[in-house]
Amino acid sequence: MLATPRILLIIGGGIAAYKSLDLIRRLKERGAAVRVVMTSAAQHFITPLAAGALSHDTVFTELFDREAEQDVGHIRLSREADLVLVAPATADLMAKMAHGLADDLASAVLLANTRPVLLAPAMNPAMWANPATRRNAAQLAADGVRFVGPNAGAMAERGEDGPGRMAEPLEIADAAARLLAGEGPLTGRHVLVTSGPTHEPIDPVRYIANRSSGKQGHAIAAAAARAGARVTLVSGPVNLPDPFGVDVRRVESAREMLAAVEAALPADIAIFAAAVADWRAASEAGEKMKKDGGALPPLALIENPDILATIAHRGEGRPRLVIGFAAETQNVVAYAQAKRARKGCDWILANDVSARSGIAGGVMGGDSNAVHLITAAGVEAWPTASKGAVAERLVARIAASLDQPETSP
Ligand code: CTP
Repeated sequence: MLATPRILLIIGGGIAAYKSLDLIRRLKERGAAVRVVMTSAAQHFITPLAAGALSHDTVFTELFDREAEQDVGHIRLSREADLVLVAPATADLMAKMAHGLADDLASAVLLANTRPVLLAPAMNPAMWANPATRRNAAQLAADGVRFVGPNAGAMAERGEDGPGRMAEPLEIADAAARLLAGEGPLTGRHVLVTSGPTHEPIDPVRYIANRSSGKQGHAIAAAAARAGARVTLVSGPVNLPDPFGVDVRRVESAREMLAAVEAALPADIAIFAAAVADWRAASEAGEKMKKDGGALPPLALIENPDILATIAHRGEGRPRLVIGFAAETQNVVAYAQAKRARKGCDWILANDVSARSGIAGGVMGGDSNAVHLITAAGVEAWPTASKGAVAERLVARIAASLDQPETSP
């Protein structure tokens, strides 16, 4: 880590701001220099005088402050930091960040910033669960912003419970230290992920495909990168942005996907989230097939290579942890257990893609997933969650299993 890391702490307007005073102390205990920006709403909860007394520096509050502009300015405020930490990050500040608004000092600093950003959200659980906040959080994560918390627990509002409490100052200071050190639970590991559908050509204009969106695989790649891993994402054709900090290799067909996967090895962990087409046309017509004569063209299919099984059955160079997916419409766990044995992988994440899953709009192409994790040790039922949350949980589970060498994977 840097000798004296410089942290710019932006304090938003929420009751959790009182904990930010303790946070300043915790950061300084870890050897950081802390400079504080406060929004005007934050000043309803704590005073710049208190923040300044603890940070031993000027506290900045105004976008157009003649003295401060000459002295520092909002551009320099972020440039002179190694990390920008927003605590508490209110729903309003997150919305401004996600949309690039800059109508006060805090938001202008965040828009001009080029340094890593860590957010400690704090808000009422209903605000955190609101689709607008979900969209903003997903956008910020895709933009490379890191999060610590929020935690679940009792809120300042009486009787309110659920995720929304700001993480504790010690947790935030630890997360900031890890970010400054550039480390996460998967630092030093190479994670290989496949994602999306494949397109299997029939002729120059037609292909066989499926409804996979790539959302789950891309979310896993992004979560692994946030956990510090070097990530290679081999993706079929999708309409998604490249996840931040991930090496993306684009392919079309199953055979191209297998070749790209083999070229990306060795890897410590391989996660096969792609919906690879099981079959391709036995022969690809060189010219567009015409409907002349009224006879229907024959479409003979042959089986594609099974990428997951090929890699899982490798002797030398097999990743230590090989994870497959199973999309089932019935007997989800039993079929997935059989698939785990047949394919030779360590874990299977099984999802119910039937209409009975209860997930609005379906799992394929949708934003939520309900999975069972099947390992040698047994079956874990995970609650329905966003694909981002499933990805985070999988990455945390992987990190935990790698920490236990004698029982892993
Ligand atoms: N998979 C793969 N290469 C293939 C087919 C599947 O790597 N050619 C991987 C997928 O990425 C996923 C898992 O294998 O991790 C899914 O297995 P698959 O055989 O596709 O499941 P189903 O098609 O659901 O199998 P079945 O037809 O037996 O239900």
